Amino acid sequence: RAHAPVVVAIDGPSGSGKSTVSRAVAARLGLSFLDTGAMYRAMTWWMLANDVDVNDPEAVAVACGKPVIVSGTDADGPTITVDGRDVAAPIRGPEVTAHVSAVAAVPAVRVRLVELQRGCARVAERGIVAEGRDMGSVVFPDATVKIFLTASEAARAERRAAELRAKGVDEATIVAMAADLARRDAADSSRATAPLTQAADAVLVDTSALSLEQVIDRITTLVAERAGAA
Ligand code: DC
Repeated sequence: RAHAPVVVAIDGPSGSGKSTVSRAVAARLGLSFLDTGAMYRAMTWWMLANDVDVNDPEAVAVACGKPVIVSGTDADGPTITVDGRDVAAPIRGPEVTAHVSAVAAVPAVRVRLVELQRGCARVAERGIVAEGRDMGSVVFPDATVKIFLTASEAARAERRAAELRAKGVDEATIVAMAADLARRDAADSSRATAPLTQAADAVLVDTSALSLEQVIDRITTLVAERAGAA
């Protein structure tokens, strides 16, 4: 074919609007969609379900080759299974959320999941939007477009709180979850292997004062420019 498949790498901290934005961009451009955080969560879910001590990096490294993790990359309905079981709901639970940073910091886990992530991109017909923490810096160094999504701490906390409030979560829990989120972002940004970082050639998009539509427009415009010039 004339053009190499498009790869859109989107990285950023939790609460930057990354997941919603990435999925919407993929849907609009007719590309596949990959939520790599879901893969780290699926790995963590399996470790917890199989009594692996998630705070023991060696135990995690030894076990991480066992689960079969499969990501369905349809932007209209992404799926994730572990050993054939649908884990989309349990991977969003508090237990997985509390331990995923520790599991994601283990180099052997990253080696394994990065390989799966590149495999998803290889089989994506028209291209893929991949979101995570190290898409532009490590997994897809030659991506067509790299986006680093940020938002002020206040904007991120406020969005997250609004989401939780809409689900009927009480204020004390919202405050506790904000603290947990800050802890997780600090851990993800300071770990030795593939920390959250803006790649040198990534475009910084601060979403604090932008609507979802504005962010999606900005990214799809960038992709159209770059893919057209390739
Ligand atoms: O985006 P998320 O909150 O679902 O990500 C879950 C965890 O996985 C988060 O603590 C960071 C980690 N992660 C990572 O280390 N590398 C990625 N590419 C994606 C997520």
